[in-house]
Amino acid sequence: MSVNIGFLGCGGIANHHMRTIKTLEGADMVAWFDLDAERAKAAATEYGGTVFDSAEKLLSEGGVDCVYICTPPFAHGDLEMAAIAAKKPIFLEKPIGVDMKVVRSIEKAVNDAGLITSVGYHFRYFAATAKAEAALAGKTITTVMGFWMGGFPGVYWWRRMDMSGGQMCEQTTHIVDMARLFAGEVKAVCAAYALLCLKDVEDITVPDTGTMTLFFENGAVGTISNCCHLPMGGRVGIDVIACDTMASMDGNHLVLRTAEGVEDVSLDNNPTAVEDAAFIKAVGTGDASGIRSPYSDAARSLAVSIAANVSAEQHSIIQVSDVG
Ligand SMILES: NC(=O)c1ccc[n+]([C@@H]2O[C@H](COP(=O)([O-])OP(=O)(O)OC[C@H]3O[C@@H](n4cnc5c(N)ncnc54)[C@H](O)[C@@H]3O)[C@@H](O)[C@H]2O)c1
Repeated sequence: MSVNIGFLGCGGIANHHMRTIKTLEGADMVAWFDLDAERAKAAATEYGGTVFDSAEKLLSEGGVDCVYICTPPFAHGDLEMAAIAAKKPIFLEKPIGVDMKVVRSIEKAVNDAGLITSVGYHFRYFAATAKAEAALAGKTITTVMGFWMGGFPGVYWWRRMDMSGGQMCEQTTHIVDMARLFAGEVKAVCAAYALLCLKDVEDITVPDTGTMTLFFENGAVGTISNCCHLPMGGRVGIDVIACDTMASMDGNHLVLRTAEGVEDVSLDNNPTAVEDAAFIKAVGTGDASGIRSPYSDAARSLAVSIAANVSAEQHSIIQVSDVG
């Protein structure tokens, strides 16, 4: 059986998924909706299928088995609720929102409906991540050090704190998610942000640099630092340290330091293809074992970044459970 996919949001990352899905077996892209109708039309021209003028019509008339929700962080809520009402499994992009109240209400609805969900935390699907997980299995993690030292994304909504959640929520959420994957749940955070290099960008309300200290429930500690003012980019990755092992991951590049020596490998899997194939398989067969980030798990990653935002604003340590 081929899985029929509808897209809600046909912008940058949606096009990345479209190109990837096109290469996979067992999936057809059949229906498109974007507030910018030209984007939906462009997708239909490239891949076939029907353009709709609302999410509700796509869900009721589009013949879809599932949807990809690829909208900006602020544009979550109604689309998920419409998909849940139509009983359609959902793939959605990270971060899954900017408001924990909205996220928790979606989480409840999706879990009550028993729907398959998958969130685009593609770092979980790098082959290097799996290799590091194997090397660290059963070991006591003591420290994580994460980085997202990047440039300034051009999309308008990114510069607005109320629309993107800022760098700690937006791109750096991948690193927060990896920190949770390796070191477990985060109890509290303490963050500091500043806006120093990009003050003159029109309408900017996000900081351009930031750092947070993480206190994990199991006693481990960590830091995650970021910026969005480096046009040439910088380090995007994480070091995970156990009593006798250190794994440094930058995408699919892994440096593993153990008592036996240093192993430096670059692997070449395509994490988006693995992630998309896992979701499509889950929708087609009911076997969701390949999905590494269902909605509830992604909500826990978002809560850490939201807590960091509150901490930076209040200059205090924030318990993650206090942000909802
Ligand atoms: N996994 C990754 O590595 C990765 C990479 C890039 C972007 N993303 C995430 O994907 C999301 C979108 O980013 P993007 O770069 O594609 O943004 P974008 O601005 O290029 O595209 C978003 C699209 O959503 C549409 N849209 C907005 N509100 C809508 C609504 N209510 N209904 C239908 N369409 C709507 C917009 O018109 C636009 O075409 C963000 O959350 C971003 O963080 C993830």
